[in-house]
Formats: sequence, structure tokens, C-alpha cells
Amino acid sequence: MSEPVIRPMHERDLDAADRVHRIAFGTRFGLSDPAAFRGDAQMVRTRWATDQEATCVVEIEGSIVGGACAMDWGSVFVLGPVFVDPKHAGQGVAHLLVEHMMAIADQRGAKLAGLFTFPESATHLRLYESAGFVAQTLTPVMSKQPDAAGHGPGLLFSKLGPGEQDAALLNLARLTDLNFPGLDLTREIRAVAQLGMGDTILIGEAQDPRALAICHYGPRGEGGSGTLFIKFAATRPGAAADFAQLLDCCEGLATATQAQRIIAGTNTARAEAYRILRERGFRAGLVGVAMHRPAGPDYNRPDVFVIDDWR
Ligand SMILES: CC(C)(COP(=O)(O)OP(=O)(O)OC[C@H]1O[C@@H](n2cnc3c(N)ncnc32)[C@H](O)[C@@H]1OP(=O)(O)O)[C@@H](O)C(=O)NCCC(=O)NCCS
Repeated sequence: MSEPVIRPMHERDLDAADRVHRIAFGTRFGLSDPAAFRGDAQMVRTRWATDQEATCVVEIEGSIVGGACAMDWGSVFVLGPVFVDPKHAGQGVAHLLVEHMMAIADQRGAKLAGLFTFPESATHLRLYESAGFVAQTLTPVMSKQPDAAGHGPGLLFSKLGPGEQDAALLNLARLTDLNFPGLDLTREIRAVAQLGMGDTILIGEAQDPRALAICHYGPRGEGGSGTLFIKFAATRPGAAADFAQLLDCCEGLATATQAQRIIAGTNTARAEAYRILRERGFRAGLVGVAMHRPAGPDYNRPDVFVIDDWR
């Protein structure tokens, strides 16, 4: 058999990479039809369209057998998903992918590389430990039905004029920087707007936002049809009241978009945010563990009100 070749993911690879991604995870979760993993939700295509230089594939004899993507959030580089065709498991493909992606993180000067993985899997922990990641605290992925209590979605990024959008992006980067130096979600906010994946909620004015929630909805996003998926949300540190208001607006947007469920995950070390989510009826389905490189709590602190999904 020929040697695996690792290279950037191109547009022509998307169908094959998407299929291998679904089969890899669908097999891991024991689905009867692994290719149906996550229904019409998109992951590989959205990640590629957001930052194609942070993606790669491995080919063996001309076929794509694995791939990886990442999310560049300024100083934070989130690795995922990493996926390998089960027919090629145990051949070192994931090691190649992780090594390649970490070289990209280093080139970009990331202060923190992070990922979400399965805490019960020695295979997964070992794979990422071999690349310098250290397991931290648990991250439950939680969901609930929207509560149609009459809240509106608040100020939406899509409703701002171009000048206001630019100002909002700068001010939102200042806001996220308060939670972790250099944390910057500009790429994600722009991608959601440009790819029609959803919208971003702002609390306060575009010139002085106090909170944001980047929400995916509809079949082009990462939550799929019928779901309001909170990809990332943040307030200033300690701002519990703003967090509550932000969640009200997310409920409002879920109702307005006729979503049947809201998905939101937060690390358990963000103790107040996690408590408020539980109090509001969010319940964990999948529980992962955050792994960081280098080790450290970073923005997994009790005063941090951040929701983010690192899958
Ligand atoms: C997890 C996954 C990426 C590993 O891919 P892979 O190419 O098989 O992994 P590698 O061959 O590079 O090996 C990684 C480690 O897993 C071990 N491993 C691989 N397949 C295994 C299996 N079926 N049973 C037990 N261990 C296995 C290898 O021995 C290796 O451990 P080592 O470095 O201590 O020797 C792949 O199984 C996959 O895509 N799973 C589904 C999706 C997923 O879980 N992605 C990661 C989410 S964080």
C-alpha cells in the first residue's frame, strides 16, 4: 500500500471529506447509518469556507481517508474535527493530521490550542497527549426547547449598516479580549453573515456592545434544521445580568426562526455560566473534555460567561 499523503483540503475534496467525517463519527457513535451523522448540519464545509488554510486531508492511493479542520479565534486555535475512515484506523493517519494542524497553529502564533474530545477514550487522550495537549475540565453540550416567553432576538449584526458592522467587530474583539487576551471571533461572525448560516446577537450598542452570541440556524449551519446552535457567546467577565439577557435573546431568536431546540455548551469551570444554563433548563447530552496546549485554565474560570462549541 502506498504511503499516506497529507495536503491542504481543496473545494473539490469537500464531498469526500464530508462523507469521511460523517462515517468516522457515525461509526464512533454506533449509528446504523453512519453517513447520516448530524443530518443536514454542515461542519466540514462551514469550517473550510471560514478558513480553508486551516484544513487538510490525508490521501492513500488517491482516496481521501481522513481530514482535519480548525477554528482560528485570534490567540486561540481550536482543533476539530479530526476524522479518519474506520477502514484506515490504526495506521497513524490521525497522528499525521494532528501534527500538521499543530504546525499551522504555531505558524499563526496561537497562544492556546484547544480541542474537545471524549474523556472516556484512552485512544483519544493518548493521541492528543502525544501532541502536547493536557486534559482539563469537562464541557457538557447542553440543549433545551426554546421558551416562547415573548422575548425578541435583540440587536442583530445583519441589521447593522456596513460601517456599524466594522465598528461592532472591533468592539466585540475588545470584549472577548477581556475574557482571554487576543480571543477574537471576527472570522466566525463574518462567516455566519457571508455564508447565510445564522446571525449574531449583540447586547448594547454596536459602538459599545456588552455581549454577543454567534448563532447558527437552518440547514447551512452547524446545528442543522430545527436547531438554534450557539456557536459562541460571551459577556464581559462577571456580567451575570448581561448573560441572562443574552440567553433571553437567544430564546427569542430560536422562537423567531422556529427552532425546536437550542444547543449551548460551556466548560464546567465557568461555574456561574454553567449554573445559569442548568437553572434555565439546559440539560447535557454529550459530555466532552477540553484539552489545552499548553495546560492552564485560560478562560475556563468561574467569572467567565462564555458559551462555545469546540467540536
Ligand atoms: C480517533 C481517530 C481520529 C483516530 O484515528 P487513527 O488514524 O486511527 O489514529 P492513529 O492511527 O493515528 O492512532 C492514534 C492512536 O489511536 C490508537 N488506535 C487507533 N485505532 C485504534 C483502535 N481501533 N483501537 C484502539 N486503539 C486505536 C493507535 O494505536 C494510536 O495510539 P498510540 O499513538 O498510542 O499508538 C479515528 O478513530 C476517528 O476518526 N474516530 C472518529 C472521530 C473521532 O473520534 N475524532 C476525534 C474527535 S476528538
